[in-house]
Formats: sequence, structure tokens, C-alpha cells
Amino acid sequence: MERLDKRLAATGRWSRKEARDLIRAGRVTVSGQPCRRPEEKVEPGAEICVDGAAIEASGPVYLMLNKPAGLVSATEDPREPTVLSLLPERYQRLGLFPAGRLDKDTVGLLLLTNDGALAHRLLAPRSHVDKVYYLEVDGFLTREDCLAVEQGITLGDGTVCLPGKMELFDEKNRANLWIHEGKYHQIKRMMASRGKPVTYLKRISFGPLTLDPDLEEGSWRALTEEEIQALFRQ
Ligand code: URA
Repeated sequence: MERLDKRLAATGRWSRKEARDLIRAGRVTVSGQPCRRPEEKVEPGAEICVDGAAIEASGPVYLMLNKPAGLVSATEDPREPTVLSLLPERYQRLGLFPAGRLDKDTVGLLLLTNDGALAHRLLAPRSHVDKVYYLEVDGFLTREDCLAVEQGITLGDGTVCLPGKMELFDEKNRANLWIHEGKYHQIKRMMASRGKPVTYLKRISFGPLTLDPDLEEGSWRALTEEEIQALFRQ
């Protein structure tokens, strides 16, 4: 959230004082509502108009999405609906993209941003951003499976995963799994190599971000200032 006068000034078209004057003169609307308070806090994607004309949205945007199953983690796809289809119209023009991918049938925490530099840094293989997944498998997980994860599982094609951590639930077909990298279908392939195919997969954290328990599947919200700063410290 940012002050309205700051957002107007960030376009470079008005000074902060000119922006304040425009707002106080009643020439500015935020998401269709007139706003005469320069200090009003506005959402990153809010549509701001001056004399009825939308100003260019500026500044990076960071959203947390609770991805539902059935959508692909991409900005466009010739056949399948993408995660961006969950966002309202005004967010469609901001150049947002998913920072990282979840499979079509995977649910949970997905970061959407238009900050290419940050996304690039978070996703670089050497960054080793921690991710935590909740999973269910067909079969029963054992102490040996946990040890294998801790030692670094070798996938079917010979790829060796970095050591991770797995904690079992009382129901032994369920676990939380920590990994520090993001290979293609990594968790499904890790569990397949143990002979226990994944039947449900949900990402519950990504680096310093934890999935907001108040976000229903298919819902999203802007990251808080603290969450954004934590991502930059990552
Ligand atoms: N590992 C997988 O196998 N799938 C995902 O979507 C994420 C991690």
C-alpha cells in the first residue's frame, strides 16, 4: 500500500505538490471512487484516474496466491487457464508472472510479481530458497524414507537432490517436506523413487513467505511491507 500522492508523483508527470493539488481539487479517483486525501493508502493494483484518464500503474507488485488445482503456472497458455485468470482486470495489465511453478494439480502458495530482478534472484539454482510442502502419498511413509530425504534422494534419471527434511504425520501417508531447490516435478519424482506416488501436494511456504491461512484456494492478496522486505533479505 502506498500514499496516493506518492503514486501519482511516481509516474513522473506531476511533482508531489502538484499531485496533492490535483487530489484536493477532486480530479482524482481510486478504483472509480473520488478521493480528496493525498495521504490515502492505495493498493498496488488500484486503478487511479486523473480527470477520468487512467494513469500508468507504476512500481513493482507482489501478490500471494493460494493456487487451486486445474490452473497452470504461466502467464499464457494455448489450451489451459492460467493462474493470472484469477486476478481482476486491473491486474492483468501489470506484467505479473508466477515466480516459480507449481504443477497444474498442485495447490498452495505461489508468488506473483512483476519484479523480474527479484524473481530471477529467488529462482536462481544457487539461491536454494527453502520450500515446504504438505503431501499425501499412495502407501505408507517410513523412517527410511525420511533418512533418504535427509541424505539426498537420487531420482529415476540419476539426478541427485540436495538433502532435505521430511516429518511424518501420525497418519503415515502424510508428511511435511522441506526442500532447498526446485527441480522439475521434484517432489513427485522423489516420492516415485521411493515407490510412493504423490496423491496430493500443497506448498505451504516459499522462502520467508508462509501461506496465509485466511486465503481460500483461488484467493490472493498483496504482500505486506514486512513480507516484501523479508523476500529482499532472502
Ligand atoms: N514438486 C512437484 O513435484 N510438483 C510441484 O508442483 C512442486 C514441487
